[in-house]
Amino acid sequence: MEENDNQRQELQNFLQKTAESFKEVKTISVTCLQFGDTGKGKFVDLFANWADIIARGTGGDNAGHTVVCNGKSRVFHLIPSGITHDKNGKINVIGSGAVVYPKTLVDEINLLSSEGMTVDNLKVALNAKLILPCHIVLDRIHEAKAGEAKKIGTTGKGIGPAYSDFIGRRGLMVNDLLNPDLFRQKLDKALNYANQLLAECNRESIREIMFHEHLENGLYYHEQKYANDNFFFEMEKIVERYVEYGKLIFPYISDTDYLIRNSCGNKNILLEGAQGSMLDVDYGTYPYVTSSNCTPAGLAKGVGLKESDVDLTFGIIKGLYMTRVGKGPFPTEIGGAVSEGWCNGTGSRSQEKEMEVDSNDNDAFKQGVAIRINGGEYGATTGRPRRVGWLDLPLLRKSLEHGAKKIILTKLDVLSGVDMINVCYAYRYDGPDFYYGNIKLTQGLELERAIVLPEVLKYCIPLYHKFPGWQEDIRGLQNFDDLPNNLKDGLASVFANLSALPAIISTGPDRKETIFL
Ligand code: IMP
Repeated sequence: MEENDNQRQELQNFLQKTAESFKEVKTISVTCLQFGDTGKGKFVDLFANWADIIARGTGGDNAGHTVVCNGKSRVFHLIPSGITHDKNGKINVIGSGAVVYPKTLVDEINLLSSEGMTVDNLKVALNAKLILPCHIVLDRIHEAKAGEAKKIGTTGKGIGPAYSDFIGRRGLMVNDLLNPDLFRQKLDKALNYANQLLAECNRESIREIMFHEHLENGLYYHEQKYANDNFFFEMEKIVERYVEYGKLIFPYISDTDYLIRNSCGNKNILLEGAQGSMLDVDYGTYPYVTSSNCTPAGLAKGVGLKESDVDLTFGIIKGLYMTRVGKGPFPTEIGGAVSEGWCNGTGSRSQEKEMEVDSNDNDAFKQGVAIRINGGEYGATTGRPRRVGWLDLPLLRKSLEHGAKKIILTKLDVLSGVDMINVCYAYRYDGPDFYYGNIKLTQGLELERAIVLPEVLKYCIPLYHKFPGWQEDIRGLQNFDDLPNNLKDGLASVFANLSALPAIISTGPDRKETIFL
């Protein structure tokens, strides 16, 4: 207990110093400034020691984080990472901006219970959005039909269609699970719409999707009864199952917006982001984005707060490289189109294990594979190899415009042993004339701030600063001064012209393997 109190005080002192403000730091957020998967879990875990409330407010079970329960690593998708923390009255919240697939929630609650852990510290927003079976079918069928050039590479969890229905005023919310008649009425509307969209699709493909385990092995599938029968879902089966889920989730459902607003300023609140700014539906590389707002402002809104309620915003980037899962522009991708094709096609972790690769390989694709293996860069939700690229400052500058005052650098140890590090400081535009508002892009134009439209990014050639890497193993270092000189010089040049400075450097997965600046 005393140790926890000391840690909490130390973290409070650090946050206070980092915020450089006279206001006491009570609410902080941690979001990713790239395309997700930046190792946020470690910091959420660290700050969870300090927090009274840990809340996520965006996305759904498309996210993935590894949590150690009773010494075993478990991947969670929906429940916030703080759930396993020493309780002490700590509350974990799935906020109103999130989308909830009840099956995933119940599976995760059951998994924790089977490990002997209670979840009595969990709260689910009554106005979080519901993912219905039709959303998952629509997501998967759309991707399957799209053809290579138009695929987004979604996680197939129904995230986009669930948010679309909500915005289109056909959506359901968690609270509807508790009121069966209302649930049925609203479901009818959503299913009618989905049936219309699916009418043009191949029934066999829909059937196959619906027999997936994630969709409860065909439980909701409506067998065609006559030739023009364009119903695909057994509504009553959905009602029955979702109402059952509602009963199981009932103890956790509450008005979390109200709770968080009332706690803001008097309790320590940690807001846990999901995905990353460049996947934000408004500010990312649209349409190659997820369907929520992944920036600090989006996260604050997703738990019922205003951006100005957050006293300190941390943005996470990987230590001098980055990754992207799925399709979409990625100018600094190591190995370019070959890497993209591999990661979005047949490439797999098991095949990569057998490959002879080196992180100094002259073949860029192989160099990328080696860095991916070093960093364990495989999707926690889908297992897909993550595309690996050099740090892209034009994209980072753009992300920083949407918030995050202090930077956390993770996984810096992954690049140890790479002889030459590339950092993209600007792009050279190499495409046809293009109007971006009143700015005319012409061949040869240099851009220091990314224009995140895919039709522009695909013509952006990265211009690199190269700096010699470091051979020393930096794993576990806790003092900035102990870092190799090449690395310190590299960091100084990277951060010279950015609007935010690093506050924390992670030199390994363990909590102790951290440098506080
Ligand atoms: P969706 O969120 O499943 O609709 O997927 C849209 C895009 O966001 C795809 O490119 C996904 O790979 C990406 N995405 C969604 N969740 C994550 C995540 O947690 N990490 C990284 N990428 C993600």
